[in-house]
Amino acid sequence: MQHRPIRFLRRGQLVSLGNVTPTHTLLELLREDLHCTGTKEGCGEGDCGACTVVLGELDPAQGPDAIKYRAINSCIRLAHSIDGMALWTAEDLTQDPLIQPETPAGEAPAADNALHPVQQALVQCHGSQCGFCTPGFVMSLFGLYQSQVCQQGQPVSRSQAVEALSGNLCRCTGYRPIFDAAEAMAELPRRRVDEATLARQLRALQSEPAADADAPGYLVPTTLQALLQARQQHPKAQVVAGCTDVGLWVTKQHRQFEQVLDVTRAAELRRVEPYPHHIAIGAAVPLTDAFAALEADRPGLHGFAARFAGLPVRNSGTLGGNVANGSPIGDSMPLLIALGANIVLMRWEPAQGRKPGRITHREMPLESLYTGYRQNVMRPDELLAWIKVPRPAPGELLRAYKISKRQDDDISAVCLVLRLHITDGVVQSASIGVGGVAATPVRARATEAALTSQPWTEATVAAATEVLRAEFSPISDMRASSAYRREVLGNLLRRLWLDSQGLQTVELRHLDPSALDPLPHSVTPKEAA
Ligand code: FES
Ligand code: FES
Repeated sequence: MQHRPIRFLRRGQLVSLGNVTPTHTLLELLREDLHCTGTKEGCGEGDCGACTVVLGELDPAQGPDAIKYRAINSCIRLAHSIDGMALWTAEDLTQDPLIQPETPAGEAPAADNALHPVQQALVQCHGSQCGFCTPGFVMSLFGLYQSQVCQQGQPVSRSQAVEALSGNLCRCTGYRPIFDAAEAMAELPRRRVDEATLARQLRALQSEPAADADAPGYLVPTTLQALLQARQQHPKAQVVAGCTDVGLWVTKQHRQFEQVLDVTRAAELRRVEPYPHHIAIGAAVPLTDAFAALEADRPGLHGFAARFAGLPVRNSGTLGGNVANGSPIGDSMPLLIALGANIVLMRWEPAQGRKPGRITHREMPLESLYTGYRQNVMRPDELLAWIKVPRPAPGELLRAYKISKRQDDDISAVCLVLRLHITDGVVQSASIGVGGVAATPVRARATEAALTSQPWTEATVAAATEVLRAEFSPISDMRASSAYRREVLGNLLRRLWLDSQGLQTVELRHLDPSALDPLPHSVTPKEAA
């Protein structure tokens, strides 16, 4: 079977590769087909960031020539998914003729071989490390540089640097010089991508369909109707969005798919639509943008959202993909359950006799989607299209807690999201989503009942804590024991109580190590003698 080709822009040139199989990864394409070995493979599962590259796409919402830059993990991204985009690797920052020194208006930039400010700052701050992790750090910083320094004209704060590098792991040394470099790069003479030229090239690329674009292996419909029709015609195709989980089936289980259906180019599903009482988030909206929309209504969610994997995973993965995947340890579902979100499933009903074909849909609470471990009620010809999230009502008390072994880029042992409405000291309503305690993301209905219509007092919380600890039978695994999960669930509910009373809560970012009692130091042989 002849597979469709891939075309993208790199170093100001069109790169075109023919007959690329559906499960070929972007990292394989770079290293094996293009022999660009500057991009490294560390974990092959989106955890370490060694393979980080930056993608550029037109961003019409921000202007006709605006470009959206996203740092992503190339190891788990399918190569076909970057068709029609611009790509940068660490090797490109000094080789791309579209990246030029900033000059006064009217003056042509002089060609030079200087390092990019990201690279220069890493050199100056002694942030350059081994050959495995450094290319990935460079590219995460390049993504931050483009959006924060060039597009917004702003300096880089420490917390922005920490978030931008949350998906980059160094196994052996420290992050401080790299964070220093992130702050310093904004102070160096600017180098900018010539976005007007790049936007023109991207538009030209999109307007010329490639030969064999309809070849069947990798289907990328660009409208909702075409997507649903493709699903109806190919119910066995592997559906993918950002591929942050399916990519691991390819790299770790060596699975191959004859046919892949990519939902991420269906224009309707890439939208966030605000309404008076809810926001509708298209299933193909990247997690970064979906969380930004949720945070616009509920800024307190930022800390929770920033701990969803690392930034490159949030830049590729979609909210719809996380929900449809249905992992019991996915972090968006406990949040969406607590927020009272509904999902909309859609399918294409083909023409029957004189009745024309049409799109049909059904809507349900998110928690009703799941029937068992990674099983759901979706029919073979259905797709998740929208997630509808109610907007906050006055008096909402919302807390989202994630418990994991590492602060950044880790999977939850337990995720608990609580949303209460309290009026005149009485809990009017409670909705609670939980992850990591059952075969699916779940709603803590018994605990909700134990809180609802009760006075918001320590006694009520103590009683509800016992109900919450008894409501689920979590398993023991490498992330936590069953007993720990139960214990911590109750502790988190108590933490919400303390928080609601304005009492000091223990949060890592508020912790001052110098104020702690010193730990007893171990006795050296000399002391023992
Ligand atoms: Fe580790 Fe890609 S190789 S994230
Ligand atoms: Fe590269 Fe630590 S992994 S220096």
